[in-house]
Amino acid sequence: MAGSIAVVARSPLSVLLYVLATAAAAANVTSDEEYWAQRAEVARSNNRAAYVSDPVAAMNRFNADVLRATSRRSLRRYQGPCMATNPIDRCWRCRGDWAADRKRLAQCARGFGHNTVGGVGGKVYVVTDASDDDLIRPRRGTLRWGAIQDRPLWIVFARDMIVTLRQELIVNHNKTIDGRGAQVHIVSAQITLQNVQQVIIHGVHIHHSAPHSGGMIRDSKHHYGQRSRSDGDGISVLSSSNVWVDHVSMYRCSDGLIDVVNGSTGITISNSHFTNHDHVMLFGASNDNPQDREMQITVSFNHFGKGLVQRMPRCRYGFFHVVNNDYTHWIMYAIGGNKNPTIISQGNRFIAPDDPNAKEVTKREYAPYSEYKDWVWKSQGDVMMNGAFFNESGGQNERKYDQLDFIPAKHGSYVGQLTQFAGALKCRVGKPC
Ligand SMILES: *[C@@H]1O[C@H](CO)[C@@H](O)[C@H](O)[C@H]1NC(C)=O
Ligand SMILES: *[C@@H]1O[C@H](CO)[C@@H](O)[C@H](O)[C@H]1NC(C)=O
Ligand SMILES: *[C@@H]1O[C@H](CO)[C@@H](O)[C@H](O)[C@H]1NC(C)=O
Ligand SMILES: *[C@@H]1O[C@H](CO)[C@@H](O)[C@H](O)[C@H]1NC(C)=O
Repeated sequence: MAGSIAVVARSPLSVLLYVLATAAAAANVTSDEEYWAQRAEVARSNNRAAYVSDPVAAMNRFNADVLRATSRRSLRRYQGPCMATNPIDRCWRCRGDWAADRKRLAQCARGFGHNTVGGVGGKVYVVTDASDDDLIRPRRGTLRWGAIQDRPLWIVFARDMIVTLRQELIVNHNKTIDGRGAQVHIVSAQITLQNVQQVIIHGVHIHHSAPHSGGMIRDSKHHYGQRSRSDGDGISVLSSSNVWVDHVSMYRCSDGLIDVVNGSTGITISNSHFTNHDHVMLFGASNDNPQDREMQITVSFNHFGKGLVQRMPRCRYGFFHVVNNDYTHWIMYAIGGNKNPTIISQGNRFIAPDDPNAKEVTKREYAPYSEYKDWVWKSQGDVMMNGAFFNESGGQNERKYDQLDFIPAKHGSYVGQLTQFAGALKCRVGKPC
């Protein structure tokens, strides 16, 4: 108070300017807040539409698909240099015309994200410029220009490139980021999906994302505004649905490799390779977000590899199908969480570290047995190696979690084959990938 009186004494004009500037800044903040509140409302209704009332049926469909794709009869038809062993890859990878028919990928998602078609309704947009100089008016040809458009786009890359983001990359709805045919590295800042639907991120390397201060950043063709600090996740998904991350290689980010929060649902993370990172995946960031009960996420055919520590994933509230992944490395634990998440672990391979204190796959965060005994955490058909063990809980009172009602997953002993092409692929135009 004393300070502002001193200012008045010094110069009434400067105070007037100060008041006007403050009002303008406040007006901007308010309009940004309104803008995001409006988008959050639209997102909430889209997220509700993506939520399925019978997640066990969705899980069974996934497992049946894998069993069909890996039946001896089905595999016999696919002899040749390209061997696609899981139903997602089977859908596109061994076709010589993948580059002429890129949008076929939009038919290939499975699991809770199976309705994800990304930018299938739009044109193909080619990134020719690896720079990221203008956060408010990005240049045509850059990744950021494509990402913020309001119409659907299928984004591809003209050549190998390293896109060094200057701030978080805010991806608008109905986009596919398709790195096939080039080695594309997206580095330095995070990819943010906030209040959007229909995003596919495929075939890119994402690493060395660090926190950034924020500032004025464009999030769509018609809007830019003040953004607060970004954490340095690899991919941050907030209040979004129908998101599919496939064949991505991720490592060495500052916060999580993939964080999915704030009621996001209808999501699949598949065929990806994760290495050299502490907090790998966080599904639900806060005990105070009970709307995260709507989260439904499939984690499948991924390789959790060298240098990983924990959270593969760490879950709150939602329903998580963790199926046919290869866990070859962890230091603390693989799958954990709190706040009564449902975790169905099927057909994974868990290879425990040598540390005798880290053999347990699971970790309940801050919860005594009396609290977690009813959480449905199930392990079926998982392969346990080097002393790994999964401490199950819950399900006593719910018929639907009885083993007999599940279509079993492909057994964990096949995981080596199902995940052998995890991560960004080296696809050549005109050849099977
Ligand atoms: C308010 O936003 C406009 C653009 O929408 C910008 O030109 C102006 O500098 C902003 N004002 C403040 C005080 O941030
Ligand atoms: C986004 O994609 C969905 C699914 O294809 C479609 O229904 C919707 O109309 C698209 N949105 C826009 C703005 O094109
Ligand atoms: C998170 O969800 C709440 C309630 O559903 C909403 O009010 C808020 O705007 C969301 N936050 C973001 C960043 O979308
Ligand atoms: C596994 O869970 C049971 C209860 O479900 C608990 O009593 C036991 O201590 C746990 N075992 C380990 C090794 O954590």
